[in-house]
Amino acid sequence: ALALVYVGARLIVAGELTIGALVAASILGARALAPLRQIFGAWRELQTVREAFARLDTLMGEPIEGSEARGQGDVRLEGRLQLDGVSFGYHGDGRAAVDDVTLTVEPGRIVGITGAPGSGKSTLVKLLLGVEQPTAGRVLIDDFDVRRLSPAVYRSQIGVVPQDVQLFAGTIAENITLGAPDKSFARVIAAARFVGLHEAVQRMAEGYDTRLGERGTGLSTGQRQLVAIARALVRNPRILVLDEATSALDAATEELFLANLRRAAAGRTVVLVTHRIAALAMCDQVVVLGHGKIIRQGPAAEMVAQLSGRAQRANLHAVS
Ligand SMILES: Nc1ncnc2c1ncn2[C@@H]1O[C@H](COP(=O)(O)OP(=O)(O)OP(=O)(O)O)[C@@H](O)[C@H]1O
Ligand SMILES: [Mg+2]
Repeated sequence: ALALVYVGARLIVAGELTIGALVAASILGARALAPLRQIFGAWRELQTVREAFARLDTLMGEPIEGSEARGQGDVRLEGRLQLDGVSFGYHGDGRAAVDDVTLTVEPGRIVGITGAPGSGKSTLVKLLLGVEQPTAGRVLIDDFDVRRLSPAVYRSQIGVVPQDVQLFAGTIAENITLGAPDKSFARVIAAARFVGLHEAVQRMAEGYDTRLGERGTGLSTGQRQLVAIARALVRNPRILVLDEATSALDAATEELFLANLRRAAAGRTVVLVTHRIAALAMCDQVVVLGHGKIIRQGPAAEMVAQLSGRAQRANLHAVS
């Protein structure tokens, strides 16, 4: 288009073309080029995505390195989660926050947990992670009581993004490698790409060295969540627990992330606490909690159909 203007300008100077004709020609030229530019843009994007996946495949395929994973006789978790009649109540609270929950999640599956606020989702997650101890019942990861897992195995093979994301004053890279300081920069970038944060970080003047304030100020709420997810992924965990970890993302970003998770991170057990039907639809299995109890559970497709309700089903029928 620039060349066109240049040639046009010379022709005008030479008196062979009117300004009006040049304007018309450059508009037509730009129109003609637009689809081409779009194609190039899309192609470049595709390359970026493909690259991101390639890196992620490498990242996720890497064995868990170093001494961290050893101890406890080189335990490599398979990722089976099992709650066996688990109950729990907070001190000073008469009611049970989790009430006689029995649940099995097979290795490599994605389980969605949903339910009203206060129904016990976060408490269930804390029990699953051994952060709280059940007053009755047992929590097993593979065949280990979660309390018996060594902290090293735990740290290296279980990735958690809690509901209240905790970032600290430090650089973005430091925030991502927290708890796994030996992780290479390449892995930091791979994890950031995976969650869709890389582009935004690159646009910052200091990139991954951008310093965040106390509690991660300097990033949007959604970006803070993405940093926390990248932090959980950078350790290449066997079990990934996301407690409303994507709540501040727009639906499109969340779906993209979950699709990435399904595709590239297969073989990992994922526990996804969410209110979003679209996110539940990406799961294998869905559990609905109410007042600390499992009120419904089943294959995602079935549960999603139930949850999305009569009105929407009527619409779907009308469409199909
Ligand atoms: N630290 C705590 N001390 C006392 N009670 C608590 C504590 N945390 C949660 N509870 C109570 O336990 C119950 C379950 O809370 P939980 O945080 O597990 O719910 P949730 O399903 O995660 O809710 P939300 O969707 O709002 O995150 C609630 O009745 C809540 O009041
Ligand atoms: Mg919660």
